[in-house]
Amino acid sequence: MRIKVKQALAAEQPLKGVTVSGWVRTRRDAKDFSFVEINDGSCFKNLQVVVDAAAPGAEHLKEALTGSSVSVDGELVPSPAKGQKWELKATAFRLLGRADETFPLQKKGHTVEFLRTIPHLRARTNRLGSMMRVRSRMAIAVHEFFQQRGFAYVHTPIVTASDCEGAGELFRVTTLDPVAPPKTPEGKVDWSADFFAKQSYLTVSGQLEGETLACALGDVYTFGPTFRAENSHTSRHASEFWMIEPEMAFCDLEGDMRCAEELVKYLVKTALEQCSDELDFFNAYVDKGLLERLRFVAERPFARVTYTEAVELLLKSGRKFEYPVVWGENLQSEHERYLTEEHFKCPVTVYDYPKSAKPFYMRQNDDGKTVAAMDVLVPGVGEIVGGSQREERLDRLVAAMQAHGLDLASYGWYIDTRRFGSVPHAGFGLGFERLLMFVTGEGNIRDVIAYPRTPGHA
Ligand code: 4AD
Ligand code: MG
Repeated sequence: MRIKVKQALAAEQPLKGVTVSGWVRTRRDAKDFSFVEINDGSCFKNLQVVVDAAAPGAEHLKEALTGSSVSVDGELVPSPAKGQKWELKATAFRLLGRADETFPLQKKGHTVEFLRTIPHLRARTNRLGSMMRVRSRMAIAVHEFFQQRGFAYVHTPIVTASDCEGAGELFRVTTLDPVAPPKTPEGKVDWSADFFAKQSYLTVSGQLEGETLACALGDVYTFGPTFRAENSHTSRHASEFWMIEPEMAFCDLEGDMRCAEELVKYLVKTALEQCSDELDFFNAYVDKGLLERLRFVAERPFARVTYTEAVELLLKSGRKFEYPVVWGENLQSEHERYLTEEHFKCPVTVYDYPKSAKPFYMRQNDDGKTVAAMDVLVPGVGEIVGGSQREERLDRLVAAMQAHGLDLASYGWYIDTRRFGSVPHAGFGLGFERLLMFVTGEGNIRDVIAYPRTPGHA
């Protein structure tokens, strides 16, 4: 019976007649037997396999180089070696797939830059393998969090005709011939002849459709891929990333901020409790302060400041920033990092942003200058959550859409939520890759997703 390395290492008693399959990490040969370290991806640790030179198949041991795949039958017995409870004593050894000396992941450590050149192989390293396991666990924890709270998991479209964030960072979806597209009599591209009979794009956010579903189901969340054709060459921006977007009816900004804080804490706690081998590894090799920081975050309330207070703190800091701090403009990443890393030294929720810096859908505050927006900033990453209470008042919403130059005719469906039984509601987006950077201490978004897409790289 095949068991995974994870099961083998967690065994409570010796086991006979088991098979373990995986990839060779290292092999050491003694005179009459060999030690083969096997990893099958099921957990961080390897299983040590002891193959007697007389065991069936042992004649192929010499060819079982690092990276080769093998399958071993044997008995799980207590290991005399330090640091491991069990080892597999082989009764039969099978070499499944050879890997020769050109296999790029030989034992020595590799730089993340080199590993990015082999995305198809790098998940076989401790670093990326750990990331993939943490990623999987965190994705399920997102569902646990919302399911425990009675949210419905909804699927919003990937192809859309609207630009939720209004930033114009859209990837076009078209089946028109790029060399000779059909033209209108005025000589422009005739989008009515395109597949969807209008211009369409990959979504930047599922929020607008999410709002319509929250206005039917109460509490909903999406968790899907989003796309931004933003030409940002930073360690925190990807062109394709996954976003978690809850949307809550009968909820205000306060409830929104609380939900975001609870979600981030739940994910951090789950990682600490259930991904401890992986986090120990990241703490040792990637970010020495990781565990201490995560434990601290899991226990303490996040700091909270208004945008206006944040601007005052930045102006008083005496810091020379590359971008000047100006009330009315979005905070730059260096400003966000100063607030969370140096001033508060903990996650901070900044709220009530100037309306000039934010999209059309955010609820206007009574001061006439700000909107009920919030961002959660965390040390090491900066913004991981962006959200707001939504403008539920029909007249205010329409005025804001006009001010942002939106074509009202194509947003009739969205405006309907305010025409028929409008309710206060709020939501946010948590960037899944940014969350993973925070939870693992990885400094570059390219190392938290298997196949990163960034400008110039697909
Ligand atoms: O702040 P953003 O742009 O907010 C929205 O899209 C809202 N419609 C969400 C909502 O209220 N439902 O994006 C939300 C989060 C950011 O805080 C960040 O974590 C992540 O998405 N994000 C990115 N992550 C990786 N690469 C990018 N290019 C990202 N852009 C945003
Ligand atoms: Mg944002």
